[in-house]
Amino acid sequence: MTIHIGAEKGEIAETVLLPGDPYRAKWAAETFLTDVKLVNQVRGMLGFTGFWKGNRVTIHGSGMGMPSLSIYVNELIRDYGAKTLIRIGSCGAMQTSVAVQDVILAMTASTLSTPSSGIFRELNYAPCADWSLLSAAAKTAAEKGVKTHVGGIYSSDVFYDERPDLNEQMVRHGILGVEMEAAELYILAARHKCRALAVLTVSDHLLTGEALASADRETGFGDMVDIALNAAFP
Ligand code: HPA
Repeated sequence: MTIHIGAEKGEIAETVLLPGDPYRAKWAAETFLTDVKLVNQVRGMLGFTGFWKGNRVTIHGSGMGMPSLSIYVNELIRDYGAKTLIRIGSCGAMQTSVAVQDVILAMTASTLSTPSSGIFRELNYAPCADWSLLSAAAKTAAEKGVKTHVGGIYSSDVFYDERPDLNEQMVRHGILGVEMEAAELYILAARHKCRALAVLTVSDHLLTGEALASADRETGFGDMVDIALNAAFP
């Protein structure tokens, strides 16, 4: 057990999928895995371990925002030996070429700050995805016929952003979408020699104001889980 994860040693798989929402973790585990066991429920942050095509997988909530994700990912890597970590979440689109319900594979994640900013100080570290996961995810998404974009995203600390000029610069510099977790995930994976990727469904569009209906959110979420599992076990 750790401070935030109640699982016994050995109950977490080396491959971990990380939705923000604990109930999404439950849905994904019950829908995609067999022999599912609830391994964590501390503070209502649910984690499940089971099997996908004979491969052991944990699906664990990360919570919203980098400080929350950082707690779980630090403990999953350092205390439970997680090696491959894939975020499955939503993002807001920042380009007209990207539509609601499309999938974005985050090659890089720009930020203003992360929980790791204190150690980087003046260095503008460039958090990036693991190539083996990214290329496998792009291949499986193409095979599934899911409209997919690969490129840079922005990991923000705020959902209700009071600085529209910053979004303008992101749009201008080709950032595909905004979410709140990937950059810290990529940094922690790099620090601990792990592999990480963020697979994101576009839930809303910052330029058009469009938003995904809740029924479509579930379909999009299922596609992401499938892409993430196929990327982890190609
Ligand atoms: N901003 C930040 N995070 C998000 C958004 C957004 O518009 N949509 C989904 N996650």
